[in-house]
Amino acid sequence: MLHNVDNTHLLRIFTDFDLPCCEPLKDAHMTLLDPELVRAAFGHFATGVTIVTSTDANGAQLGMTASSFNSVSLDPPMVLWSAGAQAPEFEGFAACTKFAVHVLSDAQVALSNRFATPGIDKFEGVQWDTSEHQLPVIADCSLCLQCETVDCHDAGDHKILIGRVLAVDINPNKAPLLYYGSAYHQLGGKI
Ligand SMILES: Cc1cc2nc3c(=O)[nH]c(=O)nc-3n(C[C@H](O)[C@H](O)[C@H](O)COP(=O)(O)O)c2cc1C
Repeated sequence: MLHNVDNTHLLRIFTDFDLPCCEPLKDAHMTLLDPELVRAAFGHFATGVTIVTSTDANGAQLGMTASSFNSVSLDPPMVLWSAGAQAPEFEGFAACTKFAVHVLSDAQVALSNRFATPGIDKFEGVQWDTSEHQLPVIADCSLCLQCETVDCHDAGDHKILIGRVLAVDINPNKAPLLYYGSAYHQLGGKI
């Protein structure tokens, strides 16, 4: 389905006329794309599912579900993910010096939902331990990457965190959990 949002006449008015009265409108044109359409468009990209953990300045555990994870560089090994400003853990992650990315298996839907639920003690009843890098590491995930934060960029209503990988723990026998179209999926097999 092609969603053709015809903003072109408005965009032209905002950009062609450099009038002071148009200043607020220039900001307004950025929001003319229907947020539901943007959400649906971004959800049209299939991803894995991770839980990112860290500790805040008081030593309390932080954790949130994130599908924005991606690998960046092999040498040095670097990864990224993005944290939304609406997340309760946002300030803690924005300031963290290290984080651990846990790639979830298809048996961990409940864990994914737990770490996407604001206002609860996410670690309660979860099997986890403090790692050699002083990070909360969750048991039985398909992959865990412990990272030191090397960069943190503002990007709209998110911050992009870039980390250098310090330690890798792979569990090759776990099938990945996938996320697509606001729903969880399992791997279908090779084509
Ligand atoms: C599968 C899945 C992937 C998610 N990916 C991200 C992400 O990459 N970045 C992010 O900031 N929030 C992500 N979230 C949302 C957060 O985990 C969390 O639900 C949200 O920050 C809670 O705050 P809110 O409900 O007040 O928005 C994801 C949630 C789910 C279920």
